[in-house]
Order: sequence, then structure tokens, then C-alpha cells
Amino acid sequence: MSDPTPAPSLDEVIERRFSRRDLMRGSLAVALTAGIGPRAASAAPGAAFDFPELAAGVDEHLHVAEGYAAQPLLRWGDPLFADAPAFDPRRQSAAAQERQFGYNNDFVGFIPLDAAGKRGLLVVNHEYTNAELMFPGLNAADRKGVIAALSLDQVAVEMAAHGGSVVEIVREAEGWRPVVGSLYTRRITATTPIDLTGPAAGHPRLVTEADPSGRRVLGMINNCSGGVTPWGTWLSGEENINYYFGGALPDGHPETGNAKAMGMGSLQYAWSRFHPRFDLAQMPNEANRFGWVVEIDPFDPASAPKKRTALGRFKHEGAAGARSLDGRYVVYLGDDERFQHVYRFVSDGRVQPERGGNADLLDSGTLSVARFEPDGTGRWLPLVHGRDKLNAENGFGSQADVLIETRRAAKLVGATPMDRPEDIEANPRTGRVYVMLTNNGKRTAAQEEPANPRGPNAFGHVIEIAPDGTDHGAETFRWEVLVRCGDPSKPEVRASFSALTTENGWFGMPDNCTFDGRGRLWIATDGNNRRATGRADGIWAVETEGPRRGTARHFLRVPVGAEMCGPCFTPDDETFFVAVQHPGEPDEEGALGSYEKLSTRWPDFSPDLPPRPSVVAVTRKGGGRIA
Ligand code: FEO
Ligand code: CA
Ligand code: CA
Repeated sequence: MSDPTPAPSLDEVIERRFSRRDLMRGSLAVALTAGIGPRAASAAPGAAFDFPELAAGVDEHLHVAEGYAAQPLLRWGDPLFADAPAFDPRRQSAAAQERQFGYNNDFVGFIPLDAAGKRGLLVVNHEYTNAELMFPGLNAADRKGVIAALSLDQVAVEMAAHGGSVVEIVREAEGWRPVVGSLYTRRITATTPIDLTGPAAGHPRLVTEADPSGRRVLGMINNCSGGVTPWGTWLSGEENINYYFGGALPDGHPETGNAKAMGMGSLQYAWSRFHPRFDLAQMPNEANRFGWVVEIDPFDPASAPKKRTALGRFKHEGAAGARSLDGRYVVYLGDDERFQHVYRFVSDGRVQPERGGNADLLDSGTLSVARFEPDGTGRWLPLVHGRDKLNAENGFGSQADVLIETRRAAKLVGATPMDRPEDIEANPRTGRVYVMLTNNGKRTAAQEEPANPRGPNAFGHVIEIAPDGTDHGAETFRWEVLVRCGDPSKPEVRASFSALTTENGWFGMPDNCTFDGRGRLWIATDGNNRRATGRADGIWAVETEGPRRGTARHFLRVPVGAEMCGPCFTPDDETFFVAVQHPGEPDEEGALGSYEKLSTRWPDFSPDLPPRPSVVAVTRKGGGRIA
């Protein structure tokens, strides 16, 4: 058990983060004055990455490049607290699940607790559950059958398997291990009390029978990607919240348009059978209390997480940040749905060196949405009540209304509809920002335009943004497509990986991304499989500079049925954490897996255990930085 008092070590952590960024702000201006445009040839010709490339493919196992080791560190059901029962999938209970690692790990953040980086906190989102793979004996033919078959107790397990985990980990000679029973340990679930803060908090549209204040909600759900702030908190984005709400609003209900815009009516869960708050007919406002970015203080397990309404309500993917030149905090936000948008939040206040000085920083600021012009310029359009068309005439009575219906506001001001914007992250060394766009099968050829250049877009693309003046707070930017994904050997795909990319090196469906300490881009995918691309999802390293720009290289692939999430490096680049989500889903279109019919039993390969979503620690054999 370790000391939960963060003061000295956290200060060190913050100091290091700030100094790295300060360094960047100075040297960056020199490196980037040209912004996007022709680049000088790399001073040192040759690849930025020198790991041996992995062969693309699909099987039951996780594979990593030769010379590297992949250690499952945290599996669904692993005990986190000293009193947590051992995992037993045939006797799983909500009480056990609340003390164990949750399901479908997505975002992973690492917050160091010591200067050597051998001890830290992992903060992990648990996005959703696959009931058909978790519970024996459901015997359902389809999703409706699963929803009908689930019991109250099984739903309680699902709710406890959602949310997030804070886990202290230490690196020892044998590798990383979780510190079971650390005083930092925390599970946040779909029933944890969470505060609503910022401009929409307390608004009548957030009030329910259970919460007349409109300021306290139970739980966070479908938390996909996120971010870690320089002051040591964890941002977590609620994404596909529509899957949880059953029933229908009464005819003519004022929330009808809002519910439609968020995709209500596509139920995937049984929760509304047992909990009236997830039934739109009974509790029409409950859905307005989900779809936000949640800020969590991992150093204070007793603190209430906060849904920061100033960052808007939509299907949030990530919440990675950077600082503007004048020291304000900037959060880049994707809304992962076809024809939705790319957003940016800029705080009113500046990031303070004292941790407590940032407690409410994310409660006031300007949320903007991106417009990508065909000529390679772009602009952030502010979503501010009273400006443009965001007024009473269009149904926006206040800033709270703008934030609750962010999608409608974005369309009114003229945002560019994109091909599923997922993670968006700034390269801390160059200041350029990378937008992962997964795909969009519904874009037509007539809807092709420079920022979304393929209709249909089956394989996604990556856009690079250079903020004007290298300032993340600037109103304007330049942009270009870094790469159109898919198989470059098929002309009809119109992929644009560099010619140096091998047959293993190309990928489809970029979803999450991260940068290592050298500013190199690593991309995680969601949607590759035998049918779509003949390869499993995984990690590809992508060159962004010099003559090899647009060259991708395959580093790691996940077991069949899984997607790849959460890529995150330790500050010394010696460990690369990745999250394997939903292993064992069928690799066939429209098929529903089951506990009895699994495509893999990774990572345990025990006949008594189903596949288990897990966070994996990747290290170099013999030690050293990931190359
Ligand atoms: Fe949860 Fe957009 O992936
Ligand atoms: Ca994602
Ligand atoms: Ca995804």
C-alpha cells in the first residue's frame, strides 16, 4: 500500500510536463514558422522508426514486432482492491465487479508518481460491455435477444463494468504489476455520483425527479477516449450514450429534435427494462445528463468526478490538450459519427502552476467548431449564445441550450461535416495537430470535398492541422490530408501512403493516436478485419516529417475480433501501454458471438475463461526505448 499524498511527486510531474511544453513553445516557433507546406528533407535521411516490421494478419493471438514483449497487465475482472474476489465469470456479481477491473478498456493515461517513471497511476476508460461474451447461457440470436435475456443482476454487473479505473502500477525486474489495494485505487461506474458543472449545470433541461438541482448525475457511460491534463487530472469522453436509452419521448415533446440528433432509438442495452431513468418516456431529461467530458482527480479517490458542460455535449471521443501561447488550456474534441464535427475548447483562464488553481479551469471558455476551407485554410467558429444564428429565434435561449445541443449549433454556424472524427492530438514537439477520421460509408461521390476526399470513404484518413502562428489558441489554421488510408496497391481505393510503405505497413480506420517523447506518431485502428482489410486492428507508426512523410509501419496487432485502443507511452518511452478492446467478437459481418462460441480466448487461453479485454504493457526485450 502506498502513500496517497501526491504533493511532492505530483509537483515534479507537473514541473516536467510544463518544462517540456515550455521548451516546445520556444523551439517550436522556429521549427514551424513555415506551417504546412513543402518541408525540408530530413537532416538524417532514413526511417524515424527502426523496429522490425510485423506481418499483418488475423489470428487468435496478439503479436508485436520482433524484439519486443507484450505483457497483459490488467484484465477484465482482475482484483483491484484488497477485498476484491478472484475473477469467476460463472459467478460474477455487481459487488465483485465494482472491486475489479472493468470491461472494454479504451483510453489509457499514465501519470508518473516518481521521477524514474517506475511507479505511476494508470487511468483507464471502460467504454462498454459485450454481454453475449461475458455471461454464459444467454443463447441469443441477435442484439434484441440479448436485451430480452439479460437479468437485473446481469445488468448490474454491466453497469459496474462500465466507467473507469484508477490503478497504481509499479515496474519491477519481472515487469509492471498493479498495486492491489493502493490507496489511489478507484472504480467509477454507471452509478457513481458525478457533478455537472459549467454553463449548463442546473439548467431545467438537466433537472430530473431524482435530481431537482440538475447538478448531480449517477454514472458515466460509454467513455471512449480522453486525455490527461498538465495538472494531473483525467478527462474522459462519453460517446455513444444513445445505446442505453430505451422507450420513446411522448409525441411533440420539446426534446424530440435533440434526441434525434444524438441518435436515440438505437437501443443496445437492457438497462431501461429495469431502471426508469434510462427510459425516455419516463425520464426525458436523463439523456441530457450524458454525452459530456468528465474530469476526474485520480489523486483524490473520494472526489466527485465532474461533467464539464462547457466542452459541449455530443459523442465525445477524446479530450487531448495543449496550451495556447498565452497559457490557456486547449482541448481538441472529436464527435465520432458520420458527418459530425471537429471541436476545440479554449479556457478563459490560464493554466496555473499550483494544482488547485486549475480546479475550475474547464468550466469557462470558448467551444468552437472547425470549418475546413477547400484551399487548405481553416477557421474555428465559436459556439457562443447570441452570436451568428445561436439565438432564441433558433431555439437557443442561453449558452446552456447551445451546449446541450452542440451538434445543431455546429451545423447552424457552418461547420464542416467530417468522416467520423475520433482522436485529435497535438504533437508536443511540432505543435501540429492530427485528426483521426475513421471512415464514412454514407458519404457519396457528390459529397467529396478536399477535407473528406472520398465518397464513400471506406478506410478513413488523417488530417494534419497547423495552427496559425503555432498557437493552439489562434482562430485560424492551415490543414492538409496526411494520408488517405487503405490498400495502396488498389488504385480504386485511392490510398496515399508513401511508396515506402510495405504491404504490412498500410492500414484502414484510424481511431486513436499518441506521440512518443520524440514526437513520433503512433496510430491505433478500429475496423480492420479479414473481410475489410485482411488484417487485424493494431498499431502502426507513421512518419510525419521529411521525405518519408506518409510512410506507415506495422508494430502490433490484436487478437481476432478486437479493436486497438489507448496507446500511451511512459515519459521515458520504455513502455508502451495499449488497450485490447472486445477480443473474441466474431470476424463475420452481422454475426453475434456468444460465451459458448468464441473466436479467441485471449489472453488466458483457458477453456474455463472467456476472452478478456486487457491493458497490455509493451517493452523492448533487454530494455531501452521503443524504437
Ligand atoms: Fe468509441 Fe469512436 O470509438
Ligand atoms: Ca475510439
Ligand atoms: Ca472506435
